[in-house]
Amino acid sequence: MDSRRRAFLTTGLLGAGAAALSACTPSAAPSAGSTTTARTTASPTPAASGSPSATPSARPTITTPPKPPAPYLSLPGKHFSFDDPRSPWVVVNKRRPLRPVDFVPPDLRQPAVSTSASGELALVNATTATAAESMFAAASADGVGLVLASGYRSHATQLRLYGSYAAARGTADADTASARPGFSEHQTGWAFDLEDSGGACAFLPCFADQPAAQWAAARAAEFGFIVRYRMDQEHVTGYLAEPWHLRYIGVAAALDMRRKGIKNLEDYFGIPAAPGYL
Ligand code: DAL
Ligand code: ZN
Repeated sequence: MDSRRRAFLTTGLLGAGAAALSACTPSAAPSAGSTTTARTTASPTPAASGSPSATPSARPTITTPPKPPAPYLSLPGKHFSFDDPRSPWVVVNKRRPLRPVDFVPPDLRQPAVSTSASGELALVNATTATAAESMFAAASADGVGLVLASGYRSHATQLRLYGSYAAARGTADADTASARPGFSEHQTGWAFDLEDSGGACAFLPCFADQPAAQWAAARAAEFGFIVRYRMDQEHVTGYLAEPWHLRYIGVAAALDMRRKGIKNLEDYFGIPAAPGYL
């Protein structure tokens, strides 16, 4: 990516209060599973030429094949809500704001990991914190230094952060990189941003080449995390690639996504793409 995004990210992050700005309880069964029935469409039958009294004969039908079942449906074990922000499977995107919009995770805590964040930004929910502790320890055993750069963000913090992006670059650019308040996974407590202990390329596209990002791309699933905004998925996620943004969904689902090669949460859960706000 280009200098435009670099400047944008830098400006936005600094404007919102320095480098650290950048997210359980399983609940009910999923509410957004996709059961699709085949649609049958009758096409118009033209009247027979020269025969005004001709009656319609058998109408050809066009049948659209049913949508394949959402990939997660074959995952054994418990399935979770897509709507409840306390659920590890909550889907928050440009078409699915948090409900309630001012949600605050009840179990925020600071994981015992290396962090460059402070205050609320150093927090994630309890399940994510425990998983992060295991993951950071495993990375360290592999000689890779992960740093928690930005975790939970309240609605008020997201309002300030998005506002700083939008003021710097306009809303169209802001919307490719920062969620509007009420639409950020960081507010759920299930997401956080990574830096590399070497400090290079924080919140920049070149972070993808840093050891922390490469390690996370390969192994985060073993600890229940996915890289939420992957390269070339903007048509679904609505965001440019963020190789630093990890989202906890549980080990079984994260490994299932990795095994099936599915690149975004919407496709895995059979939820409509969210390239833009409604
Ligand atoms: N940067 C991600 C999309 C957020 O603001 O939540
Ligand atoms: Zn993030």
